[in-house]
Amino acid sequence: MKLGLVDWLLRTKSKAENWGWRVFNKFLPLYFTEKHFEDLYRQKQDPWDYRHSCFEREKYLKTLQAIPEEVETIWEIGCAEGVFTQLLLERGKRVWGVDISSTALSRAEERLKVFGDKVRFQKLDIVKEDIEGTFDLILASEILYYLGEKVVLQSLEEKFYHHLRPFGYLLLCHFYPSGKIIHDLYRENHRFYKVFEEVTYHPHRDYIITLLKRSG
Ligand SMILES: C[S@@+](CC[C@H](N)C(=O)[O-])C[C@H]1O[C@@H](n2cnc3c(N)ncnc32)[C@H](O)[C@@H]1O
Repeated sequence: MKLGLVDWLLRTKSKAENWGWRVFNKFLPLYFTEKHFEDLYRQKQDPWDYRHSCFEREKYLKTLQAIPEEVETIWEIGCAEGVFTQLLLERGKRVWGVDISSTALSRAEERLKVFGDKVRFQKLDIVKEDIEGTFDLILASEILYYLGEKVVLQSLEEKFYHHLRPFGYLLLCHFYPSGKIIHDLYRENHRFYKVFEEVTYHPHRDYIITLLKRSG
């Protein structure tokens, strides 16, 4: 495949992120704080261009395709300004979106108020706080790599298990190959097993989508 300059630059950035995550993951929470995300959203609407990026749109559609038909209720971790939340709602799902940034959440609330009680938003630090409730599926897309090292990510396994109904699903989407290391952590306790996994090799950035199922 012949890459243009922009693709080459984006792939180089992605490779650096993958490499950087492996080396620095234990220090990342010192940088990716609540203030970091809050400042990002205050400086700019839609900082990752989720609403207009063709790359993100394609990734969202692939992630949606991985959601089993029977899923009705979803806990979306790190829902940002609700771009993916909207796609879930348009497919008839009920969504509880949480994010650490209150600015992102107020934009999401405003954009999606037309969906009424089908959607709910709450400010939450997924590492330090918790909610009440169980869901058919938990979605964590492009968030877990900010949260820190193995021990932090593993502590979320208990939270995810607890908030899923028996045989509920955990759907993960992150950059590849680092995302594979993160996704595999959630099978280590044998309480989740893999239903589906797909790596997409993309001119901009490779990513992995994994669907896990709670084993009863
Ligand atoms: C890169 S965005 C991904 C947004 C969305 N999941 C998607 O794929 O379109 C990461 C989001 O995670 C949120 N976030 C980061 N750390 C968090 C934490 N500890 N608890 C909850 N949300 C967090 C950020 O505020 C940001 O909105």
